[in-house]
Amino acid sequence: MAFEMVGVVGLGTMGAGIAEVFARAGIQVAGVEADEQALARGRAHLERSTGRALDKGKLTPAEREEILARVTLTTSRADLRDADLVIEAIPERMDVKAELFAELDRLCKPSTILATNTSSLPVTALAAATGRPDRVVGMHFFNPAPVMGLVEVVGTVVTDPGVRAEVGDLAVRLGKTPVEVDDRAGFVVNRLLLPYLNHAVTLLDHGVAGRDDIDNAMKLGVGLPMGPFHLLDLIGLDTAYEIMNVLFDESRSDRHVPSPLLRSYVAAGLLGRKSGRGFYGDPGDGPQEKAPARTVHVVGSRELADRLEAAGFKDTEDADVVLQVGGSTPVSGRTVRVQLKGQVAELATSVLTEQEAVLGARDLLKIAGYTPVPCKDRAGLVVDALLYCHLNDAVRMYESGYASIEDIDAAMRLGCGYVEGPFELLESIGLAKVRDGLRDLHAEWRSPSSAPAPLLDKLVTAGLNRFPRP
Ligand code: 3HC
Repeated sequence: MAFEMVGVVGLGTMGAGIAEVFARAGIQVAGVEADEQALARGRAHLERSTGRALDKGKLTPAEREEILARVTLTTSRADLRDADLVIEAIPERMDVKAELFAELDRLCKPSTILATNTSSLPVTALAAATGRPDRVVGMHFFNPAPVMGLVEVVGTVVTDPGVRAEVGDLAVRLGKTPVEVDDRAGFVVNRLLLPYLNHAVTLLDHGVAGRDDIDNAMKLGVGLPMGPFHLLDLIGLDTAYEIMNVLFDESRSDRHVPSPLLRSYVAAGLLGRKSGRGFYGDPGDGPQEKAPARTVHVVGSRELADRLEAAGFKDTEDADVVLQVGGSTPVSGRTVRVQLKGQVAELATSVLTEQEAVLGARDLLKIAGYTPVPCKDRAGLVVDALLYCHLNDAVRMYESGYASIEDIDAAMRLGCGYVEGPFELLESIGLAKVRDGLRDLHAEWRSPSSAPAPLLDKLVTAGLNRFPRP
């Protein structure tokens, strides 16, 4: 199929981004919104995004004009009659989407492929609302659509394999990498990403660490492009909450219980960027208080001791603050357990730790060139608790036969900007280290989902540090 003209229904952040992606690939787009006001918002999205590219010198003024001219904005769905493909990106309500699909089925020519960008609803149910279920697919883009390189192509049991292939080829023409997935809650990316983000909210809710500290830990300690709270604000807290509900409804797993804190943000209308405020955007956001640097004693890291000595601190055993790198929970109030992860230093505080010691430790670690992450002394602290459970989910997904190792790695690299996919990360950290970390987490929290996936356990027992690939 030539795909000369496509329709996009719904021009919110995702819909407008998708329209831009098609127009950039030289395809005519009919962008449909419910009323003139919504249409104006869609136009503003398109102008802002292409304007940004213009400012950065990525587009010339003439190219920008050509892209914008390829998008016809309309409030009439009848304008979609001759589209080769129509993709919807309207709010995630099954009844409204099903009604739209039934209408598109009536309006569009018989060969039109009907696609949904849904992140959580079953594509099969939308296919069933039409008289052409074989020509209905999921075409799932990632936010920001013009930037992220992945499209999940979701086929159902009734999708014509030829249609799947054509949509995959179209994604390539758009400059994206398609990954074919089946119609299962969360597909690949959201099924792995959202439980990890939800877990971060749970740590915040339990007071294990603060918002900025958790974001710093995952961005700087793991190298992810954004911390979980920044990413939740980008995705939209209502969307995230909805996806967690859908995952839980399907799996009934403790891992998929939506965080009550997430629910209360949504109930308060704090939805992230789209509403102007989510986890960030609080007028009270400001710099943290500073503690004075003090005398220090370092245990367990020559490098940290040297860095502090170079900064002018004399190491004395009776210091105000003792930094104990590694080891078990200290039994002195002025001793802070430190876990170094690249440029991040997690500072684990127990019921005994004095607040002054924590503030002093934070200050000292900054001076030594680390980003301090104060947190409660719990198994896995912040980074390992979040990361190992996330990686374990990927192993379980592969074990269940849902997606290949290559597809899971590619999906997380291209859909979420990871430098390494989950399996690449597992192998670079070391399977035994992750398995043992998961055992510690399971021993502490007893949640069934934190038990190491059987395959991970078996590979470690067999002395291997590599997953089987064809
Ligand atoms: N629209 C268009 N372009 C944008 C953009 C936007 N909203 N935001 C950023 N960009 C472009 C910039 O112009 C820049 O392009 P350039 O390199 O060609 O100049 C590039 O993206 C990098 O932007 P910045 O330098 O401003 O910022 P960062 O380096 O911090 O990158 C990011 C921003 C690309 C968003 C990066 O942080 C990232 O990859 N984050 C992860 C995003 C992610 O995980 N998305 C998936 C969420 S899940 C989802 O969407 C599924 C849904 O169903 C929930």
